[in-house]
Amino acid sequence: MQIIKTVEELRPIIQEWRSQGLSVGLVPTMGYLHAGHKSLIVKAVSENDRVVVSDFVNPTQFGANEDLSTYPRDLERDAAVCQEAGASLVFHPEPEEMYAPDSCTFVDMDSLTKGLCGKSRPTHFRGVCTVVCKLFHIVTPDRAYFGQKDAQQLAVIRRMVRDLNFGISIVGCPIVREADGLAMSSRNAYLGEEERKAALILHSSLALGEKMLEEGERDARKVREAILGRLNTEPLARVDYVELVDAESLEPVEKAEKPILAAIAVYIGQTRLIDNFTFAGGQQG
Ligand code: PAF
Repeated sequence: MQIIKTVEELRPIIQEWRSQGLSVGLVPTMGYLHAGHKSLIVKAVSENDRVVVSDFVNPTQFGANEDLSTYPRDLERDAAVCQEAGASLVFHPEPEEMYAPDSCTFVDMDSLTKGLCGKSRPTHFRGVCTVVCKLFHIVTPDRAYFGQKDAQQLAVIRRMVRDLNFGISIVGCPIVREADGLAMSSRNAYLGEEERKAALILHSSLALGEKMLEEGERDARKVREAILGRLNTEPLARVDYVELVDAESLEPVEKAEKPILAAIAVYIGQTRLIDNFTFAGGQQG
């Protein structure tokens, strides 16, 4: 498995694969890979002849006061995970390789990016769309793989691909959790021992909301309040948002009668964690 650092080196490799009629899958990541990322790579390997994993901490998706400089990095370990999962190549560019000093072109979106995480991270999705768009142009994959844990990101990328006519299939993959229910995230590495225990409140609060829906509750406000109430029982938790939204438009819903996304963002100490579940909807039973 190769580690490639420049676009110039990567393009001929992709062209060679293409000339052999091979299909290409892309797994975009910011590195510090965990079992969630590995599940994306394994799926991509099962569906494509060649798989590129991009490993790039993308500066344009971090706000001024966010954790760009401290974001965990470990290329050696990432390469081992990629190799074990069967990836063909890791693309690990430096920021200067991806962004010219006078780079001034961005991909942005009018809706879908304003609510949920977009409220407290107003430039985040512009950075995500821009880098994913660049990776799509560089790698020209047939399929690209994203985790459902970043549900808003997945919806945004699906919309970008539709709106800008990328001929790429976007494959959403299920959330991978630790044995105790905490959704896997590179940012879990920031949690101290007490915070790690406190972080379980995200999953248990969502489980409460999901149970209410499964038992027939359709009033989104009641479900939202129950999730919020449970989150507020944890002294180390500070809620950023709890929202029940339409799974596709990401607009808030009053009734959970169509497919919905229940999404939360919560600070545990200084660490902002997100989690969610989807619910198929349907009339109250
Ligand atoms: O989900 C992530 O890790 C990042 O947002 C992505 C899609 C790799 C873009 O930098």
